[in-house]
Amino acid sequence: MAASKYQAPRGTFDILPDAARIRARIERTAAEIFVRAGYEPVSTPAFEDTELFERGVGRSTDIVRKEMFTFEDKGGRSITLRPEGTAPICRAYLEHGMHKLAQPVKLFYAGPFFRHERPQAGRYRQFHQLGLEAIGTDSPLADAEAIMLLAELLAELGVPGVQLRLGSLGSPDARRDYLEELKAHLRAHEAELSKDVRERIELNPLRAFDSSDEGTRGVMENAPTIVERLNEEDAAHFAEVCSLLDASGIDYEIDPTLVRGLDYYTRTIFSFVCSELGAQSEVGGGGRYDGLIEQLGGPPTPAIGWAAGVERIMLALGEKAEATDRDAFVAVADDGQRQRALALTGELRHAGLAVEVDLAGRSLKGQLKHADRIRARRAVILEADGTMQLRDMQTGDQHPVEPGAVADELSK
Ligand code: HAM
Repeated sequence: MAASKYQAPRGTFDILPDAARIRARIERTAAEIFVRAGYEPVSTPAFEDTELFERGVGRSTDIVRKEMFTFEDKGGRSITLRPEGTAPICRAYLEHGMHKLAQPVKLFYAGPFFRHERPQAGRYRQFHQLGLEAIGTDSPLADAEAIMLLAELLAELGVPGVQLRLGSLGSPDARRDYLEELKAHLRAHEAELSKDVRERIELNPLRAFDSSDEGTRGVMENAPTIVERLNEEDAAHFAEVCSLLDASGIDYEIDPTLVRGLDYYTRTIFSFVCSELGAQSEVGGGGRYDGLIEQLGGPPTPAIGWAAGVERIMLALGEKAEATDRDAFVAVADDGQRQRALALTGELRHAGLAVEVDLAGRSLKGQLKHADRIRARRAVILEADGTMQLRDMQTGDQHPVEPGAVADELSK
């Protein structure tokens, strides 16, 4: 085996054809669902000015404090590989005057993101997200629609054991009193908290709900929750989101302790977790970020969105991710038929079928073995006398087929 001393950097990985094929299918399925719902594709650069994330994601978050790949470019500007997609899309929304378009502007995206995290199953330093954002509406209808689309995507892909957790963080003004109450609770139990949580009582008290530290968890069991303290308007907004999900038959569980790792969230937040995943159990999540665009210097613009992790979807799918995706393999029983085989392959591809032909001069037995390996559903076998057989690769059943009828038979 040819080996080199060079390897993909820690926490990153090569995407080889088997995995690339599954990814392409996931992205295609997502794009179909999004386009049907009127969302449009968008793509932003892989790096941005560091300040965009400091302001957008928040200086008190783990992402900004510890996880960004930040460097100086040759002009001395601080650049960061994007750790997430929402702040860049809001930057693009403002930069291109999208507030002048009919609102909400509905966008979707897919691509690589970068976080300097401790690598483990489901957590990488370069990973891939697909997600959507509906910018320019505060209607609970947009919250419900966004959640429904992620539910639909996970269902369509066949992700097993999915559960939706739903919460609300209220609006920032209303949250202020609650945060003071929470800080007082944390301060009263300071000695029992982990160092990390203790250090962030003032900066980011909500993160205490997310801690895996035993002492902190004990303190949080009796902590007041934001869902109990929502003001009238925020509570009405949250109740409406819940009732819209009920009406659409989406199952969820209200989780008053739900928090997220980014500072921009307001009101609705949600998380889709999967029982098939270990510690990194969230396949996707998001929420409302009504203050972000203003935070970036734009006019007040409410918005909602989410992102899902492509690697986590693949882990959750496990074996189910494997798809048979070749309609047929064209084999020859006699070398004299190779020219015809290639021409037939071209015709079948032209008819929209996924077809391969032997390119390695294998024997018929070798060709059928190869057809099996590439998971072709059927084999078309060209006999020495010019007749053709159609073979079902699963059952081994074989019957003669007229040359003109091959494409129709394969489409069945
Ligand atoms: P997030 O929760 O940080 O949200 O990431 C979204 C998803 O990306 C997670 O649910 C997870 O599946 C995946 N993910 C995150 N970090 C990693 C990692 N290190 N390795 C593998 N997968 C990972 C956001 O990024 C928000 N921008 C979502 C959003 C959009 N909110 C509103 N609009």
